[in-house]
Amino acid sequence: MQSPDKPEITRRDLLIVGAASVAMTAAPSAVNAQAAADKLPSTAEAPAMSKVTLTVNGANRELELDTRTTLLDALREHLQLTGTKKGCDHGQCGACTVMVDGQRINSCLTLAVMHEGDEITTIEGLGTPGNLHPMQAAFVKHDGYQCGYCTPGQICSAVAVLNEIKAGIPSHVSADLTVAQQTTAAELRERMSGNICRCGAYSNILDAITEVAGGQT
Ligand code: FES
Ligand code: FES
Repeated sequence: MQSPDKPEITRRDLLIVGAASVAMTAAPSAVNAQAAADKLPSTAEAPAMSKVTLTVNGANRELELDTRTTLLDALREHLQLTGTKKGCDHGQCGACTVMVDGQRINSCLTLAVMHEGDEITTIEGLGTPGNLHPMQAAFVKHDGYQCGYCTPGQICSAVAVLNEIKAGIPSHVSADLTVAQQTTAAELRERMSGNICRCGAYSNILDAITEVAGGQT
């Protein structure tokens, strides 16, 4: 029973008091959230641009690029060197292989602005239709392609592989092998394993590389 000297508090009164206190504590956090949102960069903000000079197939090329541009996109979209192909864009297929200072890399995995002054060789720089690089000629001779999409990357990779062997750079399985042993089918397959061919032209690709390796070693 309610005591006569204490005022009666109803359930409705309690709900009103509770709602008021929630509103009072929520209001400052809403203000804080808005202030934090105001400090975030706008998604419409202009991208950071940077100048970069690349040496591509022997020629200096000056570009002004969004700093997030990959070397692959710089070559294809900004320099119109579309021989280098975009397959996965995630470093898994090797279609985008080019040589940077003589070493093969996946151009989809590196930013163009990281290559200021570097010497970049693409498939267009290896040979011309009238004067093919020996590796290009060997691919033609041995039918080392079907659709051809992986072929520029395969050829750039193959040229770099033979340079690696010549320079004594071991693959992870070849540290104790002679140069002759390093040009065996198993070793070449291992070194070329980052270049995927969905048409399955592997045996012909291997024949082409083996022929050029025979002339080189
Ligand atoms: Fe670069 Fe596939 S496109 S590895
Ligand atoms: Fe078609 Fe290699 S020739 S993917």
